[in-house]
Amino acid sequence: MQRMTDQPIKMDVTTTTPQKWRGNTLAIALYDNGHPQDALSECGEEVKKEVLRLIKEGWIKGKAGETLLIPAPNDSAILAKRLLLVGMGEEKKINPESLRGLGAQLAALCHKHQISTLNFLINLDKHNQIKRWKVMEALAEGVWLGSYRFDHYCAEKKEASKKIKPSKILFSICQERSARCRKLLDKVAATCRGVYLARDLGNQPGNLLTPQILAEQAVNLANNFPIKTTVLTEKALIKKKMNGILAVGQGSQNSPRLITMEYRKGGDKPLLAVVGKAVTFDSGGISLKSANKMEEMKFDMCGGAAVFGFMQAIAEMKLPLNVVGIVPAAENLPSSTAQRPGDIIQTAKGLFVEVINTDAEGRLILADALHHAESFNPAVTIDLATLTGACVVALGSHASGIMGNSDTLLRSIQKIGDNCGDRVWPLPLFDAYQEQIRSTVADIKNVGGPGGGTSTAGCFLSRFVDEKRRWAHIDIAGTAWDMSGSKPHFPKGATGVGVRLLCQYAEKFFV
Ligand code: BES
Ligand code: MN
Ligand code: ZN
Repeated sequence: MQRMTDQPIKMDVTTTTPQKWRGNTLAIALYDNGHPQDALSECGEEVKKEVLRLIKEGWIKGKAGETLLIPAPNDSAILAKRLLLVGMGEEKKINPESLRGLGAQLAALCHKHQISTLNFLINLDKHNQIKRWKVMEALAEGVWLGSYRFDHYCAEKKEASKKIKPSKILFSICQERSARCRKLLDKVAATCRGVYLARDLGNQPGNLLTPQILAEQAVNLANNFPIKTTVLTEKALIKKKMNGILAVGQGSQNSPRLITMEYRKGGDKPLLAVVGKAVTFDSGGISLKSANKMEEMKFDMCGGAAVFGFMQAIAEMKLPLNVVGIVPAAENLPSSTAQRPGDIIQTAKGLFVEVINTDAEGRLILADALHHAESFNPAVTIDLATLTGACVVALGSHASGIMGNSDTLLRSIQKIGDNCGDRVWPLPLFDAYQEQIRSTVADIKNVGGPGGGTSTAGCFLSRFVDEKRRWAHIDIAGTAWDMSGSKPHFPKGATGVGVRLLCQYAEKFFV
C-alpha cells in the first residue's frame, strides 16, 4: 500500500528579524480594523507606507481569508522579494479553527506561487487572549492538514507534482520561546503524520484494503514502533466465539480479522483502550444499500483508521502511557454465505442478538471488540465508529455524536474537541432507547426502529461494556469523510477525525 508519510512543506521557527530575510516572501498578518501599524512595526518604513496605502485604497481590508501577493517595495531595510498580505479577520475573533483554515490557505499559496520560503510574522496585540505559540500551533496544523494529497493512483498528476519544488514556512515568534516552539512543531508533525495515516487508510478502496491487508498494516506499525500487534484470523475468531465479527464477514471471500495493538510505555499507569470500527466496505449485506453514494462506504473503516493513526502518533511522540488499540475488521457483502435478516447469533460475551437488518453491522463487530477490550481491564474505553446515518441527520458534518456512561468523561472529551477542532456533541442513552432494542426471540436486536437511531446504536454497544467501566462511544458517521472540499484543511476524502482528539485526550489524562 502506497502512503503519504511526509509533508511537502517544511516548517521551522526563525529568530532573525524581517530585515535579514533575503530572497524570501514575507507574510504579514493584517487585522480587520485592527492595528496594521502594530503588525508592521517590525518592518521598514517603505513597507509600512506601501501596505497602509493598499489598505487605504481598499486592495485588502484584513478580513479573514483575504490574501494579496505583491512585489516588495524597494526598501533598503527589507530584502524579501515579495510580500504576502494575509487577512486575519477581527483580532478578537481569531480562534484555532480559523487559523487552521488559514494555515491550509498558506500551504496552497506556497504551492500555487512556487514560494520557496515564506516568512510568517506572527504579531498579536499584547492584549489578545490567544497566545502566539497557540497561533503557530494552529497554523502549522493547518499547513499539514491542508497539504495532504491522496494521489497514488493518479499517475499523471503525480508525475506533474514531482516537478514542483518544495516550500518552507518559517514562523517568526518572540526569541526566547523559539526552542519551545520548535518542539511544538515536532509534536504537530507527529500528530499530523498520524492523521495522514488515518486518511491514507480511510481513502483506500475496498479492493485494495481488505481486513487482511489492514491487519498487515498493523504488523507494519509493530515493525516500525514499540507497538505489539496481535491479529486474530478467522480460525482464532471461531475459537473465541466472536460470532459478531464472523457473522458480518461471512458473506465475503475476504475473511475478517481482529487487530490488537498494544503500546505500553507508562509503567503501572492505568490503561486507555481505544476501539475502532473497520468495515472495509459496507454494501449493507443482504439488506443491500441503494447504489447512490455506495462507493463512499469504503470509508466505513475510518474509526479503525483513527485508532491506527492515534497509535502511531503516540508512539512517535514517545508518550509515557499505556494504550491498547482494538480494531475489528470485516467486509459486509451479500452472497450465498452471507448472514440473513432474522438470523440469531451469540456474541463472544454470550448475549444472543437477533439480526433484523444486516446493514446494522458495525454494532455487531464492535460488540465482540468491546468485549475483547474488557479483558485488558482498561480505566477508560473510547470507541469510534461510522455507525449510523441518523447521526449525519442529527449533526451533519460539524460534530461527531458522543454517548457514554460518565458525564465527566464526555465533558472532558467535548472540551478537548472544542480546542482541537474534532468537535463532539452529546446524545442520550436513556433506558427508553434500551427498550427499543428488546427482542422477542433473543436478548437484543440490532435495530431499534426508525426513531433515535444513533442512541439505540449507542445503547446496543453499552450492553457489551462493563457498567462499572468509564466508556465513551463517538459516532463519526458525519465527520469521517468530507466530499465537499469546503474546508481548506480538509481535502476531499477521509478527514482523519479522531486522531487529534484521542492524542490530546490521552496526553492530558493518561500521561
Ligand atoms: N456504515 C453505516 C452508517 C453510515 C451511513 C455512515 C451513511 C455514514 C453514512 C452503518 O453500517 C449502517 O448502515 N447503519 C444503518 C443502520 C440501520 C440499518 C439501523 C443506517 O444508519 O442506516
Ligand atoms: Mn451498514
Ligand atoms: Zn457500516
